[in-house]
Amino acid sequence: MLSAVERKIEQFVADLNDKEVTALYAKLPQGKRLRAKLILKIAGNTLPVVKTAAVVEMIHAASLLHDDVIDDAFTRRSKPSLNALYGNKTAIMLGDILYSKGFFELNNISAEVSRMVSNAVTQLSLGELKDVSLSKSFNLDKEIYLEMIYQKTASLIEASAGAAAILAGKPKEVYMTYGRNLGLAFQMIDDLLDITSDAKTLGKPALHDFVEGKTTLPYIYLYEVLSKEEQEKLSILHAKVLTKEEQSWILLKMQEHQIIERSYFEAKELIEEAIELMDSHGEEALSGIAKEMIERDF
Ligand code: IPE
Ligand code: IPE
Ligand code: MG
Ligand code: MG
Ligand code: MG
Repeated sequence: MLSAVERKIEQFVADLNDKEVTALYAKLPQGKRLRAKLILKIAGNTLPVVKTAAVVEMIHAASLLHDDVIDDAFTRRSKPSLNALYGNKTAIMLGDILYSKGFFELNNISAEVSRMVSNAVTQLSLGELKDVSLSKSFNLDKEIYLEMIYQKTASLIEASAGAAAILAGKPKEVYMTYGRNLGLAFQMIDDLLDITSDAKTLGKPALHDFVEGKTTLPYIYLYEVLSKEEQEKLSILHAKVLTKEEQSWILLKMQEHQIIERSYFEAKELIEEAIELMDSHGEEALSGIAKEMIERDF
């Protein structure tokens, strides 16, 4: 019952009783609502579950408002981003409003759920900070990349699954492991799509990560297999606006070394592990959402 979540978010925003915020929020296109779907799939649709799903989607929307400022991204969900339309100041403040209203509402759900989700938001912010710091140089360390994507993306998905398990009286550790795997794979696929997809399909800029200095998993793998001269060339292109020729060179090298396949395989393994874990707990219905996380083109 995603529509119940939608109505709950609208109600939370209306509670703020501020015309400007209501109008700004109405400008935000809806996302895929994957985190809400995950919560409802695990825990059903009682009021505390719907509230938790609404809060998580508000928090996620806030994180994207800030992320587009951080990443200088002017498209989001196929529309101009809020920072593109109204500037960074408005995007940051609307993000803060959604975060803080979300935290306020969490307190009305349960202390354990509140602790779990708010802690994940700290992790998300630490991850975003790490992403920015890492982008200042050519990060080649896969472990550091994995830790960063765990923090910025997987932590909230892990907490969503954990919070849903708490509300449903299910073993939270099992669901958190499932959510963690989903989250890691989800960000790996997001990073792949930045390379393989076009901006129109993605609804956000393509081949933008490397320009922003982000050496995601495919770039780490590519660097490892390039010759010395090629490594040099790739390092020079790092964090620069690329010409068409430079873009094509990167894509060609990725193709030559089957970098996309290798990275996709890694995400797929995490998803398969997550599906097996759920199957062994009699939760076959949760395999669909896991597949949806990787079998996507935006
Ligand atoms: C985008 O998340 C940010 C990442 C964590 C990669 P989604 O792809 O779930 O965003 P929406 O909500 O569907 O737009
Ligand atoms: C995920 O990273 C953002 C958050 C966790 C908020 P990205 O910067 O890769 O997300 P997109 O590609 O802009 O959606
Ligand atoms: Mg971004
Ligand atoms: Mg980002
Ligand atoms: Mg991305």
